[in-house]
Amino acid sequence: MSSETNIGVTPGWPPAPKNWQLAENEVHVWAVSLDQTPAQVSGLAAPLSPDEQTRAGRFHFERDRNRFVVGRGTLRLLLGQYLHLPPGEIKFEYTARGKPLLSRANGSDTLHFNLAHSGALALLAVTRVAEVGVDIEQIRPLRDADGIAKRFFSSWESGVLRALAPLEMQNAFYNLWTRKEAWLKATGEGIGESLNQVEVSCLPQEPCRFMRLFGDSFAASQWRLLHLTPADGYVGALAMRDSDAEVKCWRLNC
Ligand SMILES: CC(C)(COP(=O)(O)OP(=O)(O)OC[C@H]1O[C@@H](n2cnc3c(N)ncnc32)[C@H](O)[C@@H]1OP(=O)(O)O)[C@@H](O)C(=O)NCCC(=O)NCCS
Repeated sequence: MSSETNIGVTPGWPPAPKNWQLAENEVHVWAVSLDQTPAQVSGLAAPLSPDEQTRAGRFHFERDRNRFVVGRGTLRLLLGQYLHLPPGEIKFEYTARGKPLLSRANGSDTLHFNLAHSGALALLAVTRVAEVGVDIEQIRPLRDADGIAKRFFSSWESGVLRALAPLEMQNAFYNLWTRKEAWLKATGEGIGESLNQVEVSCLPQEPCRFMRLFGDSFAASQWRLLHLTPADGYVGALAMRDSDAEVKCWRLNC
């Protein structure tokens, strides 16, 4: 997957340069279009493990199944390039909360990654610096915004939202959602019940950052948060413990 054609991803991020490599102090973020041709889908399906194929088989709709296959298939393809392994030889382990990690059997326990998908787009973050979390959401009209805010947003965050006009509110809502979720995914917690204590900025004119973690603004300052805009109609976020790592964002051409 490296030719010049590109399917589906708005060209907001450039393609990776030839011969890219991951430096010690870098984070790579790849945007991947999940809607691919049948030939590409079957090529990406071939190296999936039996458990991934079982998961794929559970999707009712073909489009969802194909998107899952493309997400996992490109995850294997890209990690294989970092580790110099064929995609089918990548082995994953899972934490108790379901976060996939690279197995030591791959010969590397220092490569961190995280995958997210929404609609027709996936993001994959890869780094050697620290555990990383990434999230993406396709922006769509909000259903039950109040219920979600009550459950996952702090009273301070809900107050910020309430003061906004509808369109601004929608954008701020998705900023909150993806930024909190990126933290959840970096820590690997995988459940959202403490998210109202993970407070983040959400207005476009403010720096993207953690405000307080469980009431502690110093703890929040130990984390880095990035706002990502990989394509029109999508918003994303990346979270990792404080680092001055250089973040490079590329789209994967298929
Ligand atoms: C599974 C979860 C990690 C993310 O779910 P999601 O937003 O539906 O899905 P995303 O596309 O962001 O991420 C899915 C990917 O994250 C990875 N993942 C799974 N569990 C994970 C965990 N505990 N930690 C980090 N990454 C995880 C997997 O690679 C997964 O992709 P795959 O299933 O194709 O392998 C979990 O955090 C969740 O269910 N969150 C919902 C919590 C919530 O209610 N948030 C409200 C936000 S305000």
